Amino acid sequence: RISTSIAQVPLASFIFNASGPRCTEEDELNLLGASASAAIMTKSCTLKPREGNAEPRYQALPLGSIQSMGLPNLGYQAYLEMLPRLKQAISPQTNKPIVVSVSGFSITDNVVMVKAFQASCADLIEVNFSCPNIEGKPQVGYDFEQTERALEQLCQLGSKPIGLKLPPYFDFSHFITMANIIKKFPVSFITCINSVGNTLVIDPETESAIIKPKGGFGGLCGDYIKPIGLANVRAFSQLLPSSIDIIGVGGIKTGTDAFEYLLAGASAVQVATCFEKEGVECFDRIAKELDSIMVAKQYSSIAAAKGKLKMI
Ligand code: DHB
Repeated sequence: RISTSIAQVPLASFIFNASGPRCTEEDELNLLGASASAAIMTKSCTLKPREGNAEPRYQALPLGSIQSMGLPNLGYQAYLEMLPRLKQAISPQTNKPIVVSVSGFSITDNVVMVKAFQASCADLIEVNFSCPNIEGKPQVGYDFEQTERALEQLCQLGSKPIGLKLPPYFDFSHFITMANIIKKFPVSFITCINSVGNTLVIDPETESAIIKPKGGFGGLCGDYIKPIGLANVRAFSQLLPSSIDIIGVGGIKTGTDAFEYLLAGASAVQVATCFEKEGVECFDRIAKELDSIMVAKQYSSIAAAKGKLKMI
């Protein structure tokens, strides 16, 4: 099986779960620990526990999903207490890393949580700058000044690697501005992309929006967004130094999808919608499919193919 690393932390495969479905409760995180997922990634947490938005708030679609979960989570202290138990249950041979996702409603919230996880047994910290589903809380990653002010504070709280979960960008001026901000700070990795925020799916039969929260607006995920994810990974891999790892997310459900993200410049990929639909079996399946492609194409390592996209 082809291995990789994020911020020098080794991963036994190229594929793990995205902060999203099936990673909120302790039993779900233990299932990930026992699965072929290369890491245990936790659901984005907030200072206080949250029930999340009103239902229906998730709908599977023919080519992906739409969701407006609203950050249902146990609150960061529950994850802090859980981490040693999760770590304990991981077999020492695999030494599977734990990645915590933090999604505060203010810079102060994020400082409190990142500080706490810096003193925990988490291996990596992913700060979510891109949740689109909280009424009245714009996606931080679309506010460049706030992003910079947040990084000034979040990058000096400890030595564990910090990464940013970014929203999708659609203009080169935005790729360049965000890359230049990231370069000013010791950011170890970025995760591209979060769901495409505030999309609308309509059921023509019932003449209504398909999900309830925020007047039907929600994050689009899955196959629909793969070209957007690939473009974001590619753009940032060209704009950032190679020391900053890029994790690809968006529409990965086969080894071929993972391979495309590798060509675009990803050091690893995360899976959300396919994991929601298929369960933990997806990690072994996708990793095997990627291994077969690497063998068939005679790539002997991730490094040999990473970012090697050809131009016609
Ligand atoms: C939720 C959705 C996101 O896309 C995200 O980054 C964080 C949280 C949610 O609705 O729970």
